[in-house]
Parts: sequence; C-alpha cells; structure tokens
Amino acid sequence: MGNYEKEINRRRTFAIISHPDAGKTTLTEKFLLYGGAINLAGSVKGKATARHAVSDWMEIEKERGISVTSSVLQFEYDDYCINILDTPGHQDFSEDTYRTLMAADSAVMVIDASKGVEAQTRKLFKVCVMRHIPIFTFINKMDRDARDTFELLDDIEKELGIATCPINWPIGSGKGFKGVYDRESKCVITFSDTEKGTKEGVSERIPVEDESVLRELIGGEAADTLLDEIELLDGASAEFDLEEVRKGNLTPVCFGSALTNFGVEIFLQHFLNMTTTPLPRKADIGLIDPVENEFSAFVFKIQANMNKAHRDRVAFMRICSGRFDATQEVRHVQGNKVMRLSQPQQIMADERKILSEAYAGDIIGVFDPGIFSIGDTVCMPKAKFAYEGIPTFAPEHFARVRQVDTMKRKQFIKGIEQIAQEGAIQIFQEFNTGMEEIIVGVVGVLQFEVLKYRLENEYNVEIRLENLPYEHIRWIENHKDIDIAKIIGTSDMKRVKDMKGNPLLLFVNSWSIGMTLDRNKDLVLSEFGRE
Ligand code: G4P
Repeated sequence: MGNYEKEINRRRTFAIISHPDAGKTTLTEKFLLYGGAINLAGSVKGKATARHAVSDWMEIEKERGISVTSSVLQFEYDDYCINILDTPGHQDFSEDTYRTLMAADSAVMVIDASKGVEAQTRKLFKVCVMRHIPIFTFINKMDRDARDTFELLDDIEKELGIATCPINWPIGSGKGFKGVYDRESKCVITFSDTEKGTKEGVSERIPVEDESVLRELIGGEAADTLLDEIELLDGASAEFDLEEVRKGNLTPVCFGSALTNFGVEIFLQHFLNMTTTPLPRKADIGLIDPVENEFSAFVFKIQANMNKAHRDRVAFMRICSGRFDATQEVRHVQGNKVMRLSQPQQIMADERKILSEAYAGDIIGVFDPGIFSIGDTVCMPKAKFAYEGIPTFAPEHFARVRQVDTMKRKQFIKGIEQIAQEGAIQIFQEFNTGMEEIIVGVVGVLQFEVLKYRLENEYNVEIRLENLPYEHIRWIENHKDIDIAKIIGTSDMKRVKDMKGNPLLLFVNSWSIGMTLDRNKDLVLSEFGRE
C-alpha cells in the first residue's frame, strides 16, 4: 500500500463558510498564493474583473456576475495536498451550499470583525454541527475598525453555541491595528501590509516579555492593553483541547486581514496542524476507513449544463477511501451497474483537468448521462455497501408553479422532475390531490429564476411562479405512527407531500411550528429530510 497511504494522509479537505462579503474569496486567494497556485488567485471570483471566475456555466450567472455554483480548488502547501470546497458567495445560495459541507472533513469559518456572526454563517454552521465537523474561525478585516475582541468571541459562543479558543489575539484594529499576539509562542507578530506581495512580509516577531522592545514597536498604550487582555484571556477562555476541536465542540480562532495578507499563513499553519486527514465515513456496513479500503466515493452534487454545447451533467464525488484509477471499473451501487467513470476531472476555478488518478479526500467530477442521484455510492465491483444518504435541507422559499401553455404538460413534468433530481429545487404537491398543483421549494430565491430559465431554455416550457408566504418546512419524522389529517395545526399550516409521498408541513413562521408541536404532543418534526 505504501505510497497510497502516504498520499491519503497528506490530504486535507475543507469547506469555507461565511456570510457574503466577509472575505472568503480573498482568504481563499491568499491560501492559493502560499500554495504556489498563483495563476489561480484572482480567478476565484472576478466580481470586478473581466475574467469571470469559478463558473460561468449559466447565463444567469453571467448576467448577474455572481457564482451560483460551487467549485473545488486543490493546492499543495508544505507536504499537504489541500482541497478547498468553495461555496457560492452570494446571498442567494442553494442547497448545494449545504451539500458541499457533507463532502468536507472540516470547515473554515470567516467572520467580518466589524460584524460578528451573520445570517448565512448561522445557517451553514447548523449543518456543520449536525455532522460534528471541526470548525476553524478566521476573524477577518482587522485592518478596519473591529468590534471588541471579547465581544466577538462571546457572539460566536452565544449565537452558535460553540466554545472558542483564541490561538492568537489582535492588538487594536483599523488604523490602530498593530498585529497579533501568538499565545503558544508568547510572541507578538507585528502588522505589515503586504497586499501586493505574494508572501507574508516583513512582520517582526518579538517575545512579549521583551517589554521595552514591545512598547517601542506597538506603543505604550497598545502594550498596556495587550498585557491586560492576555491576563484576562488566560483566566477566562476555554483551554485548548484538540479532541474537543475535532469533535466540533471548540473552535480555534485566529485574527487577521486577508486583504493585506496579514495572519493568513499563520492561520493556515495552525489549521493544518489541527485538522484531520480524510475521515472514515458511515456506510450501511459500518465505518469505511479511507486507507484500509479500496476505492469508494459518494455523489454530493450534480451540476447540469457545465458545457452548454453538450447539455451535459457532471456528478461531483467525494472519494472516501482508497485510490481512484480511471482505467478501472467501478460499481454504481444504487444503479447496480459496473461501469467505467466517464471523463473523470478535477474542477478548478474555471479550468477542468482530466484525471487519471485521485485519492481519498479528493473531489472528482464525472460525466453523468443521467444515472446518478445525490447521495449515491460508487465502489469497487466486488464491494457491496452504500454510504449514508445526504439529508434534504429545508427550503425557505416556496412558490406555486403554473404552466403558461397547458398543452405542454409532459415536458413540464419531465423538466421539473429532472431539475429536482439534480437537487436544485424540491417539489411538493398538495397533500390530497395529484400533480395538478405543484409547489416548488428552494433554499435561495435565485433558484426560482434558475428553474424558470432552465424550463424555458431546455424544455421549451414557460411557467409562472406565484410566491407563497411559507418560510418553514418540516418533515414528519414519525409519520408512520400518526394520522396526518388529524394534526391540529395553526391556521397558516399547510399539509403537502414530497415526490416520494412523504408528508410534510409548511408554516409561515416559527411560532406556528412551536404552537403545532404544543398541540400535538406525539408529533416529531425535523428540519432535515432523510431517505
Ligand atoms: P466573500 O467572498 O466572503 O463574499 O468576500 P470577498 O473576499 O469578496 O470580500 C468582500 C470585500 O471585502 C471585498 O471588497 C474585499 O476586498 C474586502 N476584504 C476582504 N478581506 C478584507 C480585509 O481583510 N480587510 C479589508 N479592509 N477588506 C477586505 P469589495 O470592494 O467589495 O470587492 P472588490 O471590488 O475589491 O472585489
């Protein structure tokens, strides 16, 4: 096995989560600079540039200048091979953003120091918690006026319910930003703006005990504040405990400024020291160890129209064990078919590279003739197991769909079902009637536009969407034991069913959910749908 094990163990696969504008893209770019993938930096997202980043697979993305889809970036740093799963940066993210987290072993959470925890971070964080994945926090934009450091940490603890452990500590912010204090080495690293350089630049590193030098470098006032804060911090913050970090109960926190390239490499090094090699994954026969098993993977995302000319679909897989060899045959478990994966590729920013091999921890995209579904397992022909499915995440926006031309019923149903199978939208029906009434649920409202656009362009069907006031959907966990018709809901509650016939409840606000649960003591509701 030798080399194989070494290759797997040097892999680190993580997702970056943040609220739009916190600096996720800037941080990713800086990571890439350290890895020598300089040609990629700047192409991660080209908001202001002509080079339209990550993906311009769909016209909608081009028109709006945003990235609807996620992408994967791979780079080398030291001896590590790092896979970054980028998630769409726009407010209108989709279920794919959530699913991306299912393919990562850890997450980096970027927070804007002047804002603290924001809405999108909160949502993505919930998914991390559900999977107990370790979270590493980078508090960004310290070169701008920031909120009080203790307050920021408190915000994370209260809002997200996770303990924090500062790895370093900022000295001032905005115009008064002097650098960070590294708690482990007890050294101060002075701030230097190296935005234009490619590497972290001429920062000085001085032991905090050298008080006179410290005072000279950062000023007496800043030094006094720092010394006070260190004392407070050592008394008040959670002890560093790697086990707790790995269980997702404690988040290490670093401060810096991605734009000026300060604190990024320090963060990257700490992160790589603490994060894990590719983790074992749960399958129906138990945990599958990445090193001890031959090739296996699961599909976490399906992307249509990667290439407009060919109307193709690409299935993204996370390799969970062993080595992928493009010449070998594999088994698609759900389709019960032995096959060769077609055109395996690595999707990097706007480039695609055909692969001949890849290892556990890596993400590959393969051409999908329409056979894969999200959550499917691929393994060696002789192996017989399936990975745990990916949950369905609760949409937050709902609309009733009507066809303009009722003669095109068939195309309409085919189109909407196919788009739903790719996981871009979820479709529901009235509980007691058939397909006449279709309700579409999406995680981000942009998906409504994507749906309309795709139905028109690919299926030649025009639709009208009528927004519905619901914001919450709940799966009924124990629907087999309950008479759905007898649930005593609030007046705004609506009963629907998904395409598999599972009953669900729609609510206008969270208060109604609580009320319904109060009125039906034996009802068990869930935010995540399971296969
Ligand atoms: P996102 O991917 O999380 O949405 O954020 P992105 O990196 O695009 O950053 C959002 C804005 O914040 C950008 O400015 C970026 O230059 C700025 N920014 C990122 N990190 C820092 C930082 O450490 N300090 C400061 N002061 N600003 C930072 P923009 O003007 O909106 O975008 P652009 O026109 O420069 O692309």
